[in-house]
Amino acid sequence: MSTGPNAQETAELLSYAPNVTPGLARITEGIMARGAGSYVEYTDGRKMLDFTCGIGVTSLGHCHPKVSAAAAEQCMQIVHAQCSIAFHAPYLGLVQRLLHMMPHPSLDSFFFWNSGSEAVEAALKLARIATGRQNIICMQGAYHGRTFGAMAVTRSKTIYSVGVAPLMPGVFTIPFPFWHQLGREPSTPTDELVKQCLYQLDLVLSQQTAPKDTAAIIVEPVLGEGGYVPTPPAFLEGLRAVCDKHGMLLIVDEVQSGFARTGRLFAIEESGVRPDIMVIAKGLANGFPLSGVVSRKDLTESLAPGSMGGTYAGNAVSCAAACAVADAMREEGILENVNARSTELFAALEAVKRAHSAAVVDVRGRGLMLAVEFAGEGVAARVAKKCVERGMIILTTSVYEVIRFIPALNISAEDLAKGAKIFQEAVDEVLRED
Ligand SMILES: Cc1ncc(COP(=O)(O)O)c(C=O)c1O
Repeated sequence: MSTGPNAQETAELLSYAPNVTPGLARITEGIMARGAGSYVEYTDGRKMLDFTCGIGVTSLGHCHPKVSAAAAEQCMQIVHAQCSIAFHAPYLGLVQRLLHMMPHPSLDSFFFWNSGSEAVEAALKLARIATGRQNIICMQGAYHGRTFGAMAVTRSKTIYSVGVAPLMPGVFTIPFPFWHQLGREPSTPTDELVKQCLYQLDLVLSQQTAPKDTAAIIVEPVLGEGGYVPTPPAFLEGLRAVCDKHGMLLIVDEVQSGFARTGRLFAIEESGVRPDIMVIAKGLANGFPLSGVVSRKDLTESLAPGSMGGTYAGNAVSCAAACAVADAMREEGILENVNARSTELFAALEAVKRAHSAAVVDVRGRGLMLAVEFAGEGVAARVAKKCVERGMIILTTSVYEVIRFIPALNISAEDLAKGAKIFQEAVDEVLRED
């Protein structure tokens, strides 16, 4: 097997880095050449513990043997069986598997796309066509992607849309029940935050977008890029009730929180709320580009044949990988591992909070989608950098001082403890420097 570029080849390749758009940011130097489980290796010999999973994607670890084997095998059968030309077996095999995994039995109509953003776009399109209404309500702090429609319902940071307006019109924003966003203290009771946000939703529907013009509300069950904030179940129940009252649709974006990430197959299960449309991606295919929109047949029957599609949509290799992911989820005790490791990681992060009670504002999240928020400006980025220096890749998130933890869902107790220790040492060092 190839070991990747040597030092000379690496230097030569990196000489082309200035020809890559500066619009891309990167948190590590060099060339990442290999990945196995919870580790990645660079061509210069660095081996790093990966607590990012490529932003919540390689949830079963890098190059999971069964997933990679399924993809390799599919490569030798057919790679591109275009979805508007014919079905391919992995497409239907994936529907067969996912049907039984859905958080509600009404979710029985599937369309596969490539990226999360494209699936969000398709969900918005479906909502508009099925209701015959235009407007969409999204959450302050939401992240739904980088294409124009997805960007229009994204409210987590201005960097994603700065300089490119006008975006898709007909989008209205309500506050999300997160203390920061309402200018409240971290100790504010959740039911107060929920009440305030549902009140604002009523106001938006009476002052800005009439229910009969409003197609859907879109929400993440755990606010991802907005700071890893679990959406309170009472808020989701409230959104469901408002949608039911006004004939609007509830779009649940499980792109980051789905496929066991939060300790349940889908994060929405915690609330028991039924989505009308659900968007999936990331962990679905463990690194192969694949996303999906799942809805009810009575809604998708409003779509004329040919109104959905895309050259690469539901690629055969990606679908074959996703079938292997679904099988591994069932066969390899993934949910059990997530919940066991989650308890350990929470305990380790709470210990860091106790040791630095003035500097650590909050420890939050679900399953292996956890976050630590700091008080001082720039602390999160400095901690993340120190982690990289100590051999672990980790990401920040949101406009607040937040570090997010999204290790592989099958990470071992040893690797998890190792990552938690690296984080703790990085925090100690950064706070010592202040
Ligand atoms: C909740 C959520 N929705 C949508 C997206 C967009 O997905 P993609 O980057 O695959 O377009 C993301 C990506 O991080 C996400 O976290």
